[in-house]
Amino acid sequence: MCGIVGYIGKQDVRNLLLEGLKRLEYRGYDSSGLAVFAQDGFSVVRCTGRVSNLVEATAKNSEEGTLGISHTRWATHGGVTESNTHPHVSSDGKIALVHNGVIENYVEMRKFLETKGFTFSSETDTEALSNLIAYHYAKEQTDAKDASRFFIAVKKALSHVEGTYGIAVTCVDYPDELIGARKGSPLIVGVGQGEYILASDVSAIITHTSNVVYLNDDEMVSMSRDDFRVVSAADEGVDPIIDTIDWDVEDAEKGEFAHYMLKEIFEQPAALENAMRGRFSDDSSTAIFGGLNLTPRELRQVDRILFTSCGTAWHACLVAEYLIERYARIPVEVEYASELRYRNAPLDKNTLVFVITQSGETIDTLGALREAKRKGYRALAITNGVGSTIAREADGGIYQHAGPEIGVASTKAFTSQLMIAAMLALYLGRLRDMSYTDGVEMVKALRSVPELVTETLKQDAQIKEIAVKYAEYADFLFLGRQAMFPVALEGALKLKEISYIHAEGYPAAEMKHGPIALISEECPSVFIATDGEIFQKVLSNIQEVKARKGKVILIHSKSCEVPRELVDDAIVIPDAADSIMPILATVPLQLLSYYIAVARGCDVDKPRNLAKSVTVE
Ligand code: M6R
Repeated sequence: MCGIVGYIGKQDVRNLLLEGLKRLEYRGYDSSGLAVFAQDGFSVVRCTGRVSNLVEATAKNSEEGTLGISHTRWATHGGVTESNTHPHVSSDGKIALVHNGVIENYVEMRKFLETKGFTFSSETDTEALSNLIAYHYAKEQTDAKDASRFFIAVKKALSHVEGTYGIAVTCVDYPDELIGARKGSPLIVGVGQGEYILASDVSAIITHTSNVVYLNDDEMVSMSRDDFRVVSAADEGVDPIIDTIDWDVEDAEKGEFAHYMLKEIFEQPAALENAMRGRFSDDSSTAIFGGLNLTPRELRQVDRILFTSCGTAWHACLVAEYLIERYARIPVEVEYASELRYRNAPLDKNTLVFVITQSGETIDTLGALREAKRKGYRALAITNGVGSTIAREADGGIYQHAGPEIGVASTKAFTSQLMIAAMLALYLGRLRDMSYTDGVEMVKALRSVPELVTETLKQDAQIKEIAVKYAEYADFLFLGRQAMFPVALEGALKLKEISYIHAEGYPAAEMKHGPIALISEECPSVFIATDGEIFQKVLSNIQEVKARKGKVILIHSKSCEVPRELVDDAIVIPDAADSIMPILATVPLQLLSYYIAVARGCDVDKPRNLAKSVTVE
């Protein structure tokens, strides 16, 4: 949530900040602003709306400089107004600050600062912090041996903060110092030649450098034009590890596609291939994962797995439950991370905890991971966020290697999580009762996925036609059974997120117990049914909808025999093994919601009220 870009170097900072903000806009797009360290103090420009507004305003109203900070906001405290937009400059004009996170004790801070003569012009928690830094700065008299007076003031102010922050700060008396700090909100340093970029994620720096330092919680960084220094909470110098980002600028660009979401839907064959790369045994009968940090013997002792996460990744957990219980015969439970972290759930000592998260930064998932670790459980992560907080704090895990996902609606990250779930089911199954030949069959099925997804994507034009036909409906039901139930949930979430249509996902048979009351000519149902033992049961559920004049879109596998009169529209996916059907069935749902949203004129990549990575509670 919210994007930060700060820069110190030799270039005019304005274009660099604006370009970074455009790349971070998927993190928040209510309003944006920048502060440049200019000749006569800070030159601040702030605007509500998209970053494009800020680009225009900056061209008219800003001064140049080589040090600056900027922010794109997803509102938490205070409405979407210019005065609530970051940067926030302290009322004495000394400190400019941008902030991600939530300062929980800002009301007390504010009261205290008012008694000290500081004034406030916004409703934000952030302004309290900029004034608090200014307060400590005024109290501090001189520079210390290895830290500036400015640095000490920031450190002292942060010691009073309850809550979370990722910040970039400048002080009007320090033209050669940019300070960053993090606790709970991600912050990285892009290391260039004679220049440093502070940002909330790598997409903001990728065009300038691929060398990056991921800051840890409670660390502060001070940057000049020639050097940077990281300091821990204990005030000790930290030897920073400079990592290399392994993706290119083009990976984070739309190219010829109208939206990132569409590009990412079409990138799925490659993302799925990457999830498998180098991860099958030489005899192709099982999967191998280098990073679990658990021996096969330890894994055999696991008698229960608890999966936890949020949103789309939670749907991936539900699919993992079906796959692991079926193929590895290990009991699995799935919990929302936001609930698990505050529940005192009894966990058995042989329980393994897994979180799934695209970004690796979702605060609730991180909270659940930390809580599990605090209780002494082994907690692993499946994540696309290389170097993310969760990747670094988990006891081990599996990287998705799906490449950057910019569209707010998750697509390729979800199917890549399903692929990893299937591979994990295979791996755990082969450590137990799955035979060699069944293992070989499953590997064959998994390897066929990229090609089958490519085949499914060829129905793009047909799905678009169906989408246009249904774009004006206000309510939808998504129905599936077994592993197709979480797929139905995901279909409903995609539609809600990007087209603002009310949609609910249900197990198809459960519909009779309530949701059937919604069925009418005005509420279409999307059924997902693949060939198998319960296909006939799903057909019965479809009959029940038809009997009530409901319209039916059916996504079914090729060899299913579907009575034509039962469906209004059908989308056919290839026949395939059950283990990979959730992946194949997801693809048409993504396209359907995408084209419905486009037909309704919605901003697909930046849906209202949402942000890509939810780093506040
Ligand atoms: O980065 P994460 O996978 O942890 O994110 C979890 C959810 O916030 C995310 O899946 C969200 O539901 C997406 N907008 C879904 O499209």
